[in-house]
Amino acid sequence: MAARALKPGVFAVGVQDWDRPLFDALIPLPDGTSYNAYVVKGQNKVALLDTAEPEFFDELCANLAAAGVDKLDYIIAHHAEQDHSGGLPAMLSRFPGAKVVANQKCIDLLKSHLHLPAESFFVVNDRDTLDLGGKTLQFMFAPWVHWPETMFSHLIEDKILFTCDFLGSHWATSDLFSDDEQQLYAAAKRYYAEIMAPFRSRLGAYIEKIEALGVDMIAPSHGPVHRRPAFILDAHKDWIADKPKNLAVVAYVSMHGSTRVLVDRLVDQLTSRDVSVIRINLASMDLGHLAMALVDAATLVIGTSTVLTGPHPAAVYAAYLANILRPKARFATVIGSFGWGGKTVETIKGLLGNLKAEFLPPVEIKGLPTPQDLAAIDALAATIQTKHAGL
Ligand code: FEO
Repeated sequence: MAARALKPGVFAVGVQDWDRPLFDALIPLPDGTSYNAYVVKGQNKVALLDTAEPEFFDELCANLAAAGVDKLDYIIAHHAEQDHSGGLPAMLSRFPGAKVVANQKCIDLLKSHLHLPAESFFVVNDRDTLDLGGKTLQFMFAPWVHWPETMFSHLIEDKILFTCDFLGSHWATSDLFSDDEQQLYAAAKRYYAEIMAPFRSRLGAYIEKIEALGVDMIAPSHGPVHRRPAFILDAHKDWIADKPKNLAVVAYVSMHGSTRVLVDRLVDQLTSRDVSVIRINLASMDLGHLAMALVDAATLVIGTSTVLTGPHPAAVYAAYLANILRPKARFATVIGSFGWGGKTVETIKGLLGNLKAEFLPPVEIKGLPTPQDLAAIDALAATIQTKHAGL
């Protein structure tokens, strides 16, 4: 993919990774991803904003050439994670006169991860500016979106904000801009859920700062560029809101069908009580579906069979993931069936310590559900309905 202009003298030179199946050896990428990099050409200096995974170095260089870049003065490193920084060593070899512009935290991380020498760097502080000649970059530190060193760059004259991972999406596309907002919404929500949700409490302040800038474009490091910033900012405001929706996530795994009977009953009961339900079979789970469901849910129900003396490993995995994503759910519980005993409920409950959630009475039964067991599920559904009504 060649270089494309965002505005005069500002080019997108990043690459699309159409076929990558997983990010961090964890997160499914049903739509691939991109490693966005941008060039800003001033009258005096030229800056490259971020690089890409090292395997895309040749393509990145071809895009730089297509943008008419034959020298680089600066390489802005917004973030030290290697999907953006991994190309730095080769880029410095290609353009030995260039300096890596980063904050001190990022420099420390780049030294650790890439073993770059100290003389490679030009350190900047929050709100520092870099004058390229008619184009000025102002750096805005943005710690914990999603690493401690992350920062944004504001290209003042062109009203473009480069937000690195924040406001991005794992979405490989030939489109430069995110004008298909329906598709953007789904991709960006999945990305937010998997990557940014654990830092939800910090994001509102960044959104306010970005809105105050009044930029024309937001250019993240994954996915297309936003030329209607309000859409992506408003979506994030909804996702980070403290109040959850009238939604229960029922994530379950059933070995021989008994737990499934409980899940069927609970889903029916919640539905008849006007509680929305997202039902996820953990035996074939896409982590992204669970993460997205947890963005809005008021209640998380883990349904699990008991394997030997504890929960099914698929339920353990889901509970662990839910816990590290720190969702806004206010209520949680466990339902499931065992054969001869075990500590299933205690184990799952212990895995959900990060949730600021009230633990509702679990329904743990022996074997195939009896009418009394199903009545306990009905009571749980009624409790969830009541709790949601009080949100
Ligand atoms: Fe896209 Fe945190 O790297």
